[in-house]
Amino acid sequence: MKVLIIGNGGREHALAWKVSKSKIVSDIYLARGNAGTSSFCKNIDIDATDIDSLLEFAIDKKIDLTIVGPEDSLCMGIVDKFKENGLKIFGPDKSCARFEKSKKFTKEFLEKYKIPTAKYKFFTCFDDAKESLKEFSYPLVIKADGLCLGKGVIICQNENEAISTLEDIFIKKIFKEEGSTVIIEEFLKGIEESLLCMVADNKLFPLETCKDHKQIYDGNKGPNTGGVGTYSPNNFSNKTKYNIEKILGKIEYGLSDSGFHYYGILFIGFMIDEDEPKVLEFNVRFGDPETETLMPRLKSDLISLIDKCLNKTLTREDIIWSDDYCLSLILVSDGYPSKYEKNKVISGIERVNNSLVFHNGTKIKDGYILSDGGRVLTICSKAKSLQEARKIAYDDCNRIYFENKYYRTDIGLN
Ligand SMILES: Nc1ncnc2c1ncn2[C@@H]1O[C@H](COP(=O)(O)OP(=O)(O)O)[C@@H](O)[C@H]1O
Ligand SMILES: [Mg+2]
Repeated sequence: MKVLIIGNGGREHALAWKVSKSKIVSDIYLARGNAGTSSFCKNIDIDATDIDSLLEFAIDKKIDLTIVGPEDSLCMGIVDKFKENGLKIFGPDKSCARFEKSKKFTKEFLEKYKIPTAKYKFFTCFDDAKESLKEFSYPLVIKADGLCLGKGVIICQNENEAISTLEDIFIKKIFKEEGSTVIIEEFLKGIEESLLCMVADNKLFPLETCKDHKQIYDGNKGPNTGGVGTYSPNNFSNKTKYNIEKILGKIEYGLSDSGFHYYGILFIGFMIDEDEPKVLEFNVRFGDPETETLMPRLKSDLISLIDKCLNKTLTREDIIWSDDYCLSLILVSDGYPSKYEKNKVISGIERVNNSLVFHNGTKIKDGYILSDGGRVLTICSKAKSLQEARKIAYDDCNRIYFENKYYRTDIGLN
């Protein structure tokens, strides 16, 4: 069977790696893929948002299954387009992708179905938003409604910061149309966790737990990134598990009651305080870097799980995990998450022997592998204990060199 994977990051490399283990798969195409996927897949030169060309390619090549990585393609309606043309594709349709496209849409859903979340109000003009600041205490959270590449959420410590953030969004329009609606939200304390679920027509099948590290510096300091280190499993207390199951039930009910037919992945971001989880946000696709850490632990054949999910025959027992721990370190470019360096020659990947290396942002030029993104490589190791996995990953990380390589040194220490 022929599989097409849309996207070019570490998430897509990890998905392709897992798909390549499936006995029934003959060809894997990546649009566009990266230097890492080029060694065992066929990278094709079509952008993830060029839906018409992707469709044409899939029809022409008789692709049996398409797996979508990035949210942009989903929000643009790639799933609707492929299905209209009789093609099998794993991901939510445009209508369900609104859970990521619009934070207001998700908040209204959470409120309607009494799913715990931070108190909020939404605004479409500066004056109203500024006026309502008095109703909140500090810190408070200001969020642009739309897709902002993970930069649309600002935590404000005082009124001055809040006003200047509102000015940036409403008046300077730093997020353009994506910031035309703004959410002001209560700040939640606690520990942040995310849970990825496979979804078969609104029914949720949780994957294993995985801990992400968002801030760039050790000790969870500095600005937020797309994620710079993960490990799995990340065990929840029984009470937390119980509360999460209750939330999953309400989400399933809400999806059906609203008339959705959600298929694909639902990524639920939680803030958990004293075993009480509240939903921070929904994403409608596989997480990056969670996927890099989960795929090596997944024993079941991913293609067969996706098939069962699309046929609505999936059960929780089908999703089988290794007992091992996985830990991933992300090597990033100097400057990330602000303006960062690119085109640095990467060496030493072939010296890594105990970890998997997934490429996040790389390209090949004149036979060299060059850095081509803020996040460059993910070093993922698997072992019987978290500490062992941690040791292997850090050892292997030292085998790879590129100028001004940076990584956190405290992943897995807690
Ligand atoms: N209400 C909140 N209280 C505390 N922290 C928050 C809150 N909402 C968001 N955050 C922080 O901001 C980050 C980004 O917010 P999120 O809603 O996940 O948006 P996005 O991932 O689209 O940028 C979260 O991962 C979390 O660390
Ligand atoms: Mg988020």
